Amino acid sequence: MNPLTILRYPDPRLHTVAKSVVSVDARMRKLANDMLDTMYEAAGIGLAATQVDIHERLVVIDVSESRDQPLVLINPEIIWASEETRVGEEGCLSVPGIYDGVERAMAVKVQALDLDGKRQVHEVEGMLAVCIQHEMDHLLGKVFVEYLSPLKRNRIKTKMIKLKKDEERD
Ligand code: NI
Repeated sequence: MNPLTILRYPDPRLHTVAKSVVSVDARMRKLANDMLDTMYEAAGIGLAATQVDIHERLVVIDVSESRDQPLVLINPEIIWASEETRVGEEGCLSVPGIYDGVERAMAVKVQALDLDGKRQVHEVEGMLAVCIQHEMDHLLGKVFVEYLSPLKRNRIKTKMIKLKKDEERD
């Protein structure tokens, strides 16, 4: 177990744009495994490298109920998205306790490298499609609250700053 520290909104480092992974090597495999440990420990369904302050295009996901179907996407690219969209409730490990509706494509086709450096194409829908879009936003420096109104976003910012202060006091 090697849990990493998850950056919390409004940490400015969450707005860093990630660079492509140059080689899928031992370091990358260790990072992916540490990120999976961190995600499982935090009871999340997805985590982007950006959230652990590593600015390379890597995300880990597991939307299974049994928590045993990890998906690692390296240098993911969406090569197709359905025109049909849906507004669903989202949360984020970097914005604990906040859930709100975001409009996303219902289905996407994503191309990415796996941990063996092999190119895979995943055609997905439902929660997995939403999760992939949410995590890929992180790689572009975008947190889901940025889809909400400025009023809501400011309330969330204030709440997160207060939460951090409360935690530091404990
Ligand atoms: Ni997130």
